[in-house]
Amino acid sequence: MIVAIDGPAASGKGTIARRLARYFGLPHLDTGLLYRATARVLIDEGGRLDDVEAAVAAARGLALTEFDEEKLRGREMGEAASVVGAIPEVRAALIDMQRHFTQHPSGAVLDGRDIGTIIAPQADVKIFVTASPETRAQRRALELRGRGEAVNYPDILDDIRKRDERDAGRSAAPLKPAADAEILDTTDLDIEAAFRAALAIVEKKRG
Ligand code: CDP
Repeated sequence: MIVAIDGPAASGKGTIARRLARYFGLPHLDTGLLYRATARVLIDEGGRLDDVEAAVAAARGLALTEFDEEKLRGREMGEAASVVGAIPEVRAALIDMQRHFTQHPSGAVLDGRDIGTIIAPQADVKIFVTASPETRAQRRALELRGRGEAVNYPDILDDIRKRDERDAGRSAAPLKPAADAEILDTTDLDIEAAFRAALAIVEKKRG
């Protein structure tokens, strides 16, 4: 079974994807980490985020096993990921790795922006997770503070709005629900309730 989870920043898609993967015993790929890691290489090299050639080389050189999530989850890297994620050549360089992941014999759970539309249009279940910008900003501010970053809510809300615009407005794989995706609005749901709702969608699809 392939489960595709897409949605905007801090919608809860990562948590839902992880929980579903654990529940069904499937491997999970957080595809946002690929874009974050690509941006990280460019920043570490002192290069520019819009240097297409360097960004493609960085994307091609990624090794899934070497990700240091702690270094990739910060605010700066989320923003940088959304800049490199808008480069069509970078997206193309990351497609094979993601599609390969879907070919695991038991299936897989992937979360991102274009899983149901581009990476795995054949997915058995597609869920588009969303929530109001205000709720997402609150969640992201809490998460970043938990990581020790000093952030304030208005700045994070501003980040979220700009990122929504960039992710949905780009020409390469814009953020949008697949035609056959179920929309799951988590604005008023806590983690447990969101997971239960996602599980109900999977169970319904599987008949
Ligand atoms: O939770 P959040 O959205 O902040 O983080 P993420 O899922 O790691 O995504 C970071 C950025 O990477 C997004 O804003 C997208 O621009 C980009 N991304 C993408 O373009 N395609 C994906 N499949 C995953 C992430």
